[in-house]
Amino acid sequence: MAESLLDIGFVGAGEMACAMVAGIVSKLNPKSIMASSPTGATKLDRYGAVCSKSNSEIFKNCKIVVIACKPTQVPDILKEWKDSVKKDSIKASGVVSICAGVKLSQLEELNCPVIRIMPNLGVRVGAGTLPYCTSANCTEDFEKSVMSIFEPLGLAVKVPEKFFNAAQGISGCGPAFIALFIESLVDAGVREGLTRDVAWRLACQTVYGTGKLMLETNTSPSDLKYKVCSPGGVSIAGVVSLEKTGFRSSVIEAHRATIEKTKEMERAAQGMN
Ligand SMILES: NC(=O)c1ccc[n+]([C@@H]2O[C@H](COP(=O)([O-])OP(=O)(O)OC[C@H]3O[C@@H](n4cnc5c(N)ncnc54)[C@H](OP(=O)(O)O)[C@@H]3O)[C@@H](O)[C@H]2O)c1
Repeated sequence: MAESLLDIGFVGAGEMACAMVAGIVSKLNPKSIMASSPTGATKLDRYGAVCSKSNSEIFKNCKIVVIACKPTQVPDILKEWKDSVKKDSIKASGVVSICAGVKLSQLEELNCPVIRIMPNLGVRVGAGTLPYCTSANCTEDFEKSVMSIFEPLGLAVKVPEKFFNAAQGISGCGPAFIALFIESLVDAGVREGLTRDVAWRLACQTVYGTGKLMLETNTSPSDLKYKVCSPGGVSIAGVVSLEKTGFRSSVIEAHRATIEKTKEMERAAQGMN
C-alpha cells in the first residue's frame, strides 16, 4: 500500500548519497529514507536512515529510487530492476539518476518516469546547483515530488538533455574554476601583506555574496560590474587588466575543454574509442 512506502531510497551510499541525505534530513524524517550498497550502506547510519545490503528492498519499499552508485555499476542495477519487475515487486513510482554520463536513453529500459540530475558539492551546505532533465514519460507529479524533497539541497534548474554537458560544465566543474579564482585573490592579498586566513575569508565571502546578490536581486553580471566600477576608479583599472590578460576567453575555453572531455569519456563508455 502506497501509505506504507518510504519517501526515498538511495541505491549506493557513497560521498554524494551522504551529502544529499545530510541535506534532505532537514525536511524528511530519516526513517523515511532508505539506502543500500553491497556493504550495507553503513555510511548512512549516522543520519538515521534505514540501511540495507539489498537494492531490491529499495525498489520494493520506496516511492522514489535514486541511483547513486558509480556509472559502471548502472548496468547491474538495471538488471536487478528488471528481475524485480518480473517478480512484480516494484512499488517505486520513478527513478532519479545522479550518475555522470548516464543518459536518459540508457535508463529507458526501466520503463518508468526518470529524472537525470547532476548535484555538485554545494549540496553539503544547502547551496548546491542541480541541473536536471526528465524522460519523455516523466509525470509532473513525479517531478514535483522529487524537486520538493531535493529543495533543501540548493537550486535545481531544468535543462533539455542536449544541453546537459554545457550545464554540468558550469555547475559541476565551475567550483574548481572558482576555487582557482579564489586562490588567486588570496595570493594577491598575501603578496600585499594580508594573512592567508584573512585574505581567504575575504575572497570566499566576496564570491558567495556576489552570487547571492545577483540571484536574489536578479542582477546581470554587466549591471553589477557597472555598479562596482566607478568612472576612473580602482575597480575598472582591475577589470581592464583582466581583459588585457584574456580572463574572459580563458574561462570560456576552460568550459569548452570540459565539454570536449565529457564527449571523449562518453565515447569511451560506449566503446567507440
Ligand atoms: N562525488 C561527487 O562530487 C559527485 C557529483 C555528482 C554526481 N556524482 C555521481 O554520484 C555517483 C556516486 O559517486 P560517489 O562519489 O558518491 O561514489 P562513491 O563514494 O564511490 O560511492 C559509490 C557507492 O556505490 C555503492 N555500490 C557499489 N556497487 C553497488 C551496487 N551494485 N549496488 C548498489 N550500490 C553499489 C558503493 O557501495 P559500498 O560502499 O558498499 O562499496 C558506494 O556506497 C556517481 O555515479 C557519480 O557520477 C558524484
